[in-house]
Amino acid sequence: MSGPPPTVWLNALLGFLQWAQHGVLVLLHTLGLAGEVHGQPAWPWEVRIAGETLLIDLGQARQLGLTLIAVALALLAVLAALLIRRWRAVSLGVGAGLLVVAPWPSSVVLSPAVPTSFHASPTAFTLQSIAQGTRVYNTACASCHGADGRGEGPLAATLTRWPPTVVGPLLGRRADGELFWHIAHGMRDAQGTVTMPAFTHRLSDADIWSALDYMKVLAASGGVRAGGWPLPVAMPTLPVRCGDAPPETLAAWRNGQRIRVVAIDAASADRIPLEDPRFQTLLITPDGTLPSPTRAFQAHCVAASTDAWNVFAALAGTAPQTFSGTQLLADRNGWLRARGEPGTAWSDADFLCTAAARETAAPRAGGLDSLIARMDAEPVRYVKGGFIH
Ligand code: HEC
Repeated sequence: MSGPPPTVWLNALLGFLQWAQHGVLVLLHTLGLAGEVHGQPAWPWEVRIAGETLLIDLGQARQLGLTLIAVALALLAVLAALLIRRWRAVSLGVGAGLLVVAPWPSSVVLSPAVPTSFHASPTAFTLQSIAQGTRVYNTACASCHGADGRGEGPLAATLTRWPPTVVGPLLGRRADGELFWHIAHGMRDAQGTVTMPAFTHRLSDADIWSALDYMKVLAASGGVRAGGWPLPVAMPTLPVRCGDAPPETLAAWRNGQRIRVVAIDAASADRIPLEDPRFQTLLITPDGTLPSPTRAFQAHCVAASTDAWNVFAALAGTAPQTFSGTQLLADRNGWLRARGEPGTAWSDADFLCTAAARETAAPRAGGLDSLIARMDAEPVRYVKGGFIH
């Protein structure tokens, strides 16, 4: 049998489940039946549908999908019974039959939920939030989680449980709202002993969200050395200034194009690249200003922020001192995909975020064009904690 590949219907199912659960939450909140926590509607139940389980258990996913269809048809049958008197007995019979034959999935499709399970981060992953998160993280979290996020801080060995490393799939597996809850309200082991302290009395909600943003940067940074980013990283939101024009938002400037990010400092100021029709070129400089009046056709748009240099150096897995000349590519959907080291030609090995598994066979003939072609042909379908992003 050759149906569509599982990802197509599975993505549709996961997207529907997320939309439906969020829709129910918004409806309950609007009707005054669900309260609010941390500034967003509170999920009132102890469980939610476990998208993360469905992702790996295709059998359960299929059963749940078929059951949803059966329930929808059963509802239609009930509606028909109500509207059309003559059909009443038959319709109700069909409806009941559908519910009986539906392949009800087992309870593994449910997982524990917290009131913030469906909360979305309000930070928009801005440079400002990442910079704030760096400060929060270094003062409140690094002692246990380690300055590099690998869970080897000075206090780690004194704890009942070793802090997990963020340089791995951890942050990608959990919903943002659930990570937020664990930081705000702490975590306990099966015996009820506190394993991770609660921060809600020490940090504002905004600080907790920004610390999570910085953890994503740490995950990317550590991942580069291991050969790739453990989770897809979005291009941080930042103001862009072109020439003398007033700054624009990244989204307005990008306008759906690919982006090439180029780190330029005093040492590399003579190597500002020319504009290139294949992407928008964004210069990153240590002080957030254009290095010098650029010549015709040279890139003249700069990330207008003093935080850009350090954040992008971290994303590229490089120390700020050696960042100059590094390039990064973002695809049309705003995901960072590849990194080019200073002074070397682009090749397939520069991919840090591939949608398909890395090829084990000999890499294809490289070059920027083939990299771009592959980036477009394999868009990132990011399913995080069972939720499609
Ligand atoms: C006293 C040590 C300590 C401090 C301080 C600390 N953590 Fe943790 N953290 C832990 C431990 C231990 C775990 C693992 C807990 C478990 O799995 O039961 C953990 C787990 C986590 C997790 C994973 C949550 C999950 O869903 O599995 C995140 C995210 C996290 N911490 C973020 C932070 C942030 C952000 C800060 C600073 C605001 C912080 N931690 C401060 C010890 C600490």
